[in-house]
Amino acid sequence: MSQTAISLNQLPRLRTRHFGRLGGLLRPGTHRSPLLDLGKRFVVSAPGFPTMLVTHDMDDVREVFANHDDFSIGQLLSRLSSHDRMFGKQTLIFLDGDAHRRERRLFSPPFQSKALRSYEDLMVEVVERELPNWPVGEPIEFLRVGYDLAIGVLLGVVFGDVAPGRRERLQEAVKQWFGEIESRGFLAVTLLTPLFGGYTPPYLPLQRREAEVDAVIIEEITARRSAPGHAADRRDMLARYIDTDLDQHDDVALARNMRGVLLGAYETTAITLGWIAAMLAAHPEAMAELDAAADSGDQDRLDAYLDAVVAETMRLRPVSPFTGRRALRDTVINGVAIPKGAMVIVPVLLIHESEQHYPDPLTFRPERFLDDRPDGHTWLTFGAGPHRCLGAQFALAEARILFRVILGHRRIETTPGYLEPPRRFHTGLSPADNARITLLPR
Ligand code: HEM
Repeated sequence: MSQTAISLNQLPRLRTRHFGRLGGLLRPGTHRSPLLDLGKRFVVSAPGFPTMLVTHDMDDVREVFANHDDFSIGQLLSRLSSHDRMFGKQTLIFLDGDAHRRERRLFSPPFQSKALRSYEDLMVEVVERELPNWPVGEPIEFLRVGYDLAIGVLLGVVFGDVAPGRRERLQEAVKQWFGEIESRGFLAVTLLTPLFGGYTPPYLPLQRREAEVDAVIIEEITARRSAPGHAADRRDMLARYIDTDLDQHDDVALARNMRGVLLGAYETTAITLGWIAAMLAAHPEAMAELDAAADSGDQDRLDAYLDAVVAETMRLRPVSPFTGRRALRDTVINGVAIPKGAMVIVPVLLIHESEQHYPDPLTFRPERFLDDRPDGHTWLTFGAGPHRCLGAQFALAEARILFRVILGHRRIETTPGYLEPPRRFHTGLSPADNARITLLPR
């Protein structure tokens, strides 16, 4: 380790009596965060927890994201949450170094631009199918709508056409599995994990549901393999993976990976859709701009403003308000010595709320992203570096397409000055009243 590196002991430490301020890393602010008074780096040492360096020094952040060999996101998630139990330790986000590089290459083709364009028709179809079910002129919980849209799109994109009978069993198994993940029982297990030193006890109801989902996926894989030329006309993700190197392990692993994609994409997407609706309801000027664009029939104008709305919503309400990495060995980032096992926490929300990167940072102003796309160093909703969200482009395109279709048929009633707060007990940032808005006819 370098002689001149600063040790964590030399950095400001968050005193135990100020631990409450850590809420500022998790919940959006209405005023300047007191955490900013501690400078760009501070250390948290809570009894029973690994030492954590919280840093929004952007050189630290860049180095830690880029350093794929000395830092692990999977190790951080396993220590602080039940993600390893939910996803399985062999899935992409838990792999490090070369193993991750290899697997990520295999996973990437269905997320490249050409493939993404091929999912657009399906996204339009899903909204058009769901839209007549939403009441008009009375409040609805748009988060629920978001869950329905997210799962409809995901099942279509990941599995494509599945034979009737099996399709319904797959939908039902996935629904039950997500229900179990959101249950109070599993929430308790998740909250206890950090206190048990990162050990998530087996949770049988969830394991049972996972096995049910995997069984239907394996049945589908087996059926496809036995049909000659099975992948010829298919554009779904499963078809793009069967008979490739990703399929080299076994069907159980492929099924688990498909389940992992559903899990990584489902809640994050639904919550983001919910926040976009809530933000638009609270900001009449943005809604007026979208209405004008939708009424003009100019799709490029509508898409450009929608992209800006999506980016600005994700800046102020990133589903994961922080991310980070755990040191696999003693290492140095930007002159700071990080001992093996310590965590480096990147406070995404604090960076997004910083005046230094975003003038008037607490104001919702999509125009800031109209001419400039989000800067990958300071707009960190999808993380950064080799583990950056694989579905980022997918999620951004999906939000734009879904809202484009919705706004073609409906307007959102605005309630100026009222923005729904985030839920208090939730591992991410989720709207407390499920994004209650009112849709009106266009
Ligand atoms: C608004 C929606 C989404 C948000 C906010 C989100 C956020 C994230 C974040 C924060 C990470 C960790 C990145 C890091 O710390 O550097 C991640 C990883 C990942 N996400 Fe997403 N995600 C979203 C949608 C999706 C979708 C739609 C998919 C797939 C269809 C997906 C698949 C993944 C995968 C596979 C990883 C692991 C990547 C790796 O380890 O190499 N996500 N996501």
